[in-house]
Amino acid sequence: MTGTCLITGGARGIGRATALAAARDGWDVAINYRERADAAKAVVAEVQALGRRAVAIQADIALEVDILRLFSCVESDLGPLRGLVNSAGIALGSRVAALDAAALGRMMQVNVIGLMLCCREAARRMSTAHGGRGGSVVNISSMAATIGGRSGASTYAASKGAVDVFTSGFAKEVAAEGIRVNVVRPGVTDTDIIAGSHGGPRRAEIEATIPMKRFASPAEVAEAVVWLLSDKASFVTGTHLNAGGGGFLVGAG
Ligand SMILES: NC(=O)c1ccc[n+]([C@@H]2O[C@H](COP(=O)([O-])OP(=O)(O)OC[C@H]3O[C@@H](n4cnc5c(N)ncnc54)[C@H](OP(=O)(O)O)[C@@H]3O)[C@@H](O)[C@H]2O)c1
Repeated sequence: MTGTCLITGGARGIGRATALAAARDGWDVAINYRERADAAKAVVAEVQALGRRAVAIQADIALEVDILRLFSCVESDLGPLRGLVNSAGIALGSRVAALDAAALGRMMQVNVIGLMLCCREAARRMSTAHGGRGGSVVNISSMAATIGGRSGASTYAASKGAVDVFTSGFAKEVAAEGIRVNVVRPGVTDTDIIAGSHGGPRRAEIEATIPMKRFASPAEVAEAVVWLLSDKASFVTGTHLNAGGGGFLVGAG
C-alpha cells in the first residue's frame, strides 16, 4: 500500500526523516508544520527530488480547527489519505514542581489530544465503514513512557503513556475497518527536541545509560515507522515497537 501519507511535525527531526523514507518507499507526502515554513518547504523539495508529490501545510496540532483544515487540504492537494504519522510533539524539560496548568495543558493538547483528533480525522477518511479504502497510522510515543521518563520528564512521559494506551484501544476500534494503528517508541534521538536537555557533557552521561551506548539517528527511527506504515506489517496492529537501543540500563536517570 502506498498513496497519500500525512506526517504531522514533518519538517524536522523524526518527522522529516520519515517523510524522506516514505517517499523512497513510494508514498506522496503531506508535510505538516507549525512555524518552520522554510524547513517544511525544504522537505517538500527533497521529497519531490525522490520522484514523489509533496505539499507543506501549516497547522497547529493543538487546535482542532487547524486539524480539520489540515486534513481537508491534504486530500484536496494529494488525494485520498492512506497513511498518517503523528510525529508532532513537545517536551517541557522541567520537573512538575516548576510547571503550571497552562504549560501542562499545552503539552497534553499537542502530544495527546491533537494526536487523538488526527487519528479521528484519519479514521473518518480511511475507514471502510465510511467508504474509505483502509490505511495505516503510526503514533510516535517514547521510551520515556516505559520508565516514567528520565529526571525532569515525568509529565512528558505521562503524555506518551497516554499515546501508548490510546493506540492499543483505538487499534481495536478500527481493526475491522481496514485500518492498522501502531506506536513507535524512539529512544533518545539526535534532533532539536533534546539538544538543550541532552547536549554538552550530559550527552556522554545519558549515552552510558543506553545499552547500545549511543543516540539514534532520525533515519534509524524512520525505518521502523515506514515498516509499520507499509503492507509488510499487514497483520501488525495495536503494537508498541521500541526503537530504543535496548532500553535503559538499571539506574538510568
Ligand atoms: N528526539 C528524541 O529523543 C525523541 C525520543 C522519543 C520520542 N520523540 C518524539 O518524536 C516526535 C518528533 O520529535 P523530534 O525528535 O523529531 O523533535 P523535533 O525535531 O523538535 O521536531 C518536533 C516537530 O514537532 C512539530 N510540532 C511541535 N508542536 C507542534 C504543533 N503544535 N503543531 C504542529 N507541529 C508541531 C515541530 O514543528 P515546527 O518545526 O514547525 O515547530 C517539529 O517539526 C515527538 O513526538 C517526540 O516527542 C523524540
